[in-house]
Amino acid sequence: MAEQTAYLSDQNGANYHSLVIDDLQAETLYAYRVGHGEYWSAWAHFRTATNEESPLSFIYFGDAQNDIKSLWSRTIRGAYQQMPKADFLLHAGDLVNRRNRDHEWGEWYEAGGWIYQMMPSIATPGNHEYGKDQNDNYVLSKHWKPTFTLPENGPPGLEETTYYIDYQGTRIISLDSPAFRRSSKDSAIIVDWLRDVLISNTQKWTILTMHYPIYSTKFGRDNVELRHAVQPLLEQHGVDLVLTGHDHTYGRGTNLPIGNGKKVSLDGPIYVVSVSGPKMYDLGLDAWMQRGASNTQLYQLIHIDQDLLRFEAFTVDNKLYDAFEISKKNGKRKFSDLAPPGVPERLELPSRYKEGFSEEELAEYRLRFQKYKERKKAKGN
Ligand SMILES: [Fe+2]
Repeated sequence: MAEQTAYLSDQNGANYHSLVIDDLQAETLYAYRVGHGEYWSAWAHFRTATNEESPLSFIYFGDAQNDIKSLWSRTIRGAYQQMPKADFLLHAGDLVNRRNRDHEWGEWYEAGGWIYQMMPSIATPGNHEYGKDQNDNYVLSKHWKPTFTLPENGPPGLEETTYYIDYQGTRIISLDSPAFRRSSKDSAIIVDWLRDVLISNTQKWTILTMHYPIYSTKFGRDNVELRHAVQPLLEQHGVDLVLTGHDHTYGRGTNLPIGNGKKVSLDGPIYVVSVSGPKMYDLGLDAWMQRGASNTQLYQLIHIDQDLLRFEAFTVDNKLYDAFEISKKNGKRKFSDLAPPGVPERLELPSRYKEGFSEEELAEYRLRFQKYKERKKAKGN
């Protein structure tokens, strides 16, 4: 029998159910349905993971957040068309805009529909899943824990928001970055936990997701404290990829200059910021970025097969916008930039910025844009 959680939302009451089935066989197709008495859902299929290292693929989304039913639905459905056999979906926070609005979660369910019944969701909370309660405490959305059944291997008090999953040779780590910002006590707990989880890691590949980026893409934003606390651990322990959101733009890069098309050695992770919903900001175009996009909804497909990790970003009309590969042999990593050469970078300001900017702000943006282009040219990007 499933565990039942009674829940009173801003609209009505409902019972949420969850069930952990722990005696499944590896690499096996199962069918399940939910319901009781005369009322049953359709049968849905899922396949369990293998016990050893084997190829895996997943879909990564930046913030969905706004107009989820009308405009985010095409992102998740387009992603499903491209990768219908993905092992799971990964949501990098701000799934909704107002954390306790039941109708926004309703839109999130409608957008993904039956995809969620067959493909697990790994989610990390964003600042929009947090807010102040009546006692002025910064707390998680009431929907989060009844909605998801995520691992409870995080530090006490941060179960289901800070956790890790080992899947077919890859460790996926979720850090609750709004909790990191909440207090120095929470930051210290999260960093200590992360260190332990990286030290004990025996998986070949390591991917970290959290909502706030290590390097921001949005102009004027910089998560200095988070970067100073977390980045040394990521570099020291060979994390391969950091998947984030929050900045409503796209950017990927690293702390090293990387030449386009050439295979180069990689010391640190590749950092990615992306956005899957329609809310758009302006790009900061900082030095760490090797490819960016503004005003563009995207989804990302990640495939891992033995020594190779391939990353692809697609626009919602299912066109390849960005790609790269990381190869790993004897602990040494190489990076190849595979951004499609015929696809120019989309660096236009979103229209509300163009309309709202003063002449000085526009001139500043043009200069930023020009410097970014010059910098990339000089680096061979
Ligand atoms: Fe955010």
